[in-house]
Amino acid sequence: MFPMKAIWPLLASNALILSQQHLIKSKKYSHLCRKNAQKFLSFFSNADGMTDSTQIPTNLDHHLFHPDASRAEALLKDCPVHAPTPMTEIDLLTEEVGISRLWLKDESDRMGLGSFKALGGAFAVARMIADKAGSEDFSSQATKNTAAEMVFITASAGNHGLSVAAGAKVFGAKAVIVLAAAVPESFANRIRAKSADVLRVDGSYDESVEVARQVARDKDWILLADGSWEGYIDRPALVMEGYCVIPEECRAAFAKLDVWPTHVYLQAGVGGLAAALSAHIRLNWAEQPEIIVVEPDAAPCLQRSVEAGRLTRVDGADSNMGRLDCKDASLIAFRALQQDADRFVTITDEEATAAVNTFARYGIATTPSGAAGLAAPTAASPGPDARCLLIVSEGPEGD
Ligand SMILES: Cc1ncc(COP(=O)(O)O)c(C=O)c1O
Repeated sequence: MFPMKAIWPLLASNALILSQQHLIKSKKYSHLCRKNAQKFLSFFSNADGMTDSTQIPTNLDHHLFHPDASRAEALLKDCPVHAPTPMTEIDLLTEEVGISRLWLKDESDRMGLGSFKALGGAFAVARMIADKAGSEDFSSQATKNTAAEMVFITASAGNHGLSVAAGAKVFGAKAVIVLAAAVPESFANRIRAKSADVLRVDGSYDESVEVARQVARDKDWILLADGSWEGYIDRPALVMEGYCVIPEECRAAFAKLDVWPTHVYLQAGVGGLAAALSAHIRLNWAEQPEIIVVEPDAAPCLQRSVEAGRLTRVDGADSNMGRLDCKDASLIAFRALQQDADRFVTITDEEATAAVNTFARYGIATTPSGAAGLAAPTAASPGPDARCLLIVSEGPEGD
């Protein structure tokens, strides 16, 4: 269905293609960084330069996305750099955590991009090009011409931007990635190596989100955020659909083992990963685990939103879990997790660092964001009979 053998290798290509000049000067948007993020979000609700077909339903259909891996798997099937990521059992760690069995789904090398996010942004780019072109034949000149006119822009804590950049490169579109001051330069370099432009914002992650929205409006570019809000659902819904490949791979592995986890720990930033996995698990797994969402104590936006029964912004210091340090939850994720998750817990920076060190002792290199799932059962064991699944959501940051 997707004749992409020729173009897919670009996704994992390490060839360094130097960034073009920045298309825009961050100074122009610096005034936005001083504004209150929440005010901006309300002001621009429903105003992100797109027609959103999914208005918030008044009934309680809590899945505002398609929790099904089949379209993403169809796209990936001809991709030479795609393979299921390893799900490994670590016997020795069970004693340390005080549980019976422990599996790690290791996303640290997903498609050569270093994190699970490789599955989301790139899939959304492909879908949007196919939808606009009216064809899924990405090798046809007509589809290429359509793609060449599309410019995707997003703010990112790093990995989502890398995925959008890689997708844009593979499918022949352009990408501009807005990065907050705290995002390591190693991400900027990896994003530029995918031929995308990087726009640095001298401000927080929230402020980079504001800038991306404003630039998209000004330039008439396509905002492809991984978070969602009222009036902006369809595109992040595609991103989350791409993540569903992960729980489908886990489902197949557990079905083969004929044993299922009793507890699944999912670290969350805006909540896209946790919500996509939870929804897929609830709909497709033969045995249902307890699902625990893990957030930094500096940014428990999902926990607070679920407690309040509505999206609730949180304030807090910066966390060392950079990719999880989101003060606003995604609306799609909040709606899904309200019903699909069992518990929300927070962890400290020190606990996340300890989890990184624990993984390192077992030869697994990751970051505090990637290791956060381990910190929760380590802090409060679910009991000696528990069988836990954790996601190592990224590899090391690199230089
Ligand atoms: C490595 C890593 N883990 C977890 C997350 C959390 O994902 P989400 O923001 O969808 O909750 C992110 C988000 O960027 C991430 O990059």
